[in-house]
Amino acid sequence: MKLFIDTANLKEIEEASHWPFVSGVTTNPSLIAKEGLSQKEIIEHIAKLIDGPISAEVTAEDCEGMLTQAHELYAIKPSNIVIKLPMTVEGLKVANALYKENIPTNVTLCFSSSQALLAMESHATYLSPFLGRLDDNGWDSAKLIEEIVTLKRNFGYPTKIIAASIRSVRHVEVAALLGSDIATVPYKVLKKLISHPLTDSGLATFAVDAEKTAKLTK
Ligand code: G3P
Repeated sequence: MKLFIDTANLKEIEEASHWPFVSGVTTNPSLIAKEGLSQKEIIEHIAKLIDGPISAEVTAEDCEGMLTQAHELYAIKPSNIVIKLPMTVEGLKVANALYKENIPTNVTLCFSSSQALLAMESHATYLSPFLGRLDDNGWDSAKLIEEIVTLKRNFGYPTKIIAASIRSVRHVEVAALLGSDIATVPYKVLKKLISHPLTDSGLATFAVDAEKTAKLTK
């Protein structure tokens, strides 16, 4: 499973750009709003740091407005920009229109299998089911991932699943085990993915023992 970083923070993205396990970035209007720069400025910076898919979200609600924003965002770096679209009828119309122009899309705010089916039928390149927000509200995000993976397999949809709204290490593990193509993960959770208390204590013991051997060889 591929891992993207879910942030618009340039410091975090710069650091993650050196990590071999991070291959893309997703942003949304709320993440952009925290950074005090315009969306265009932020996406331009990210495009210089990451040579992988970068999701940039439109905010218009009508087809025409979304298409105008999509073309502006895509022009920032056509080799990398993915247009993030809302899970609405208008959003899906735009996903289908951009598919015909060979512009990749990421349909976001997916909370059900029926929504996933419609997005895949509309030729979304990526689809973002929101795990954390489902679990926060008492639904079962693992079941949703399982069902979307089944839909993909049943009908051979090429749409890639991005497990989003990740809150924990376990969300990432479950998404991978159930067959999600990608998980987009906040910086803090990415850092936690690599650490384990037994790795830390094991390393500390090795360091002490290596020091004993070093003394013998002096
Ligand atoms: O980028 C979309 C998604 O990952 C947002 O997550 O934490 O706001 O539910 P969250």
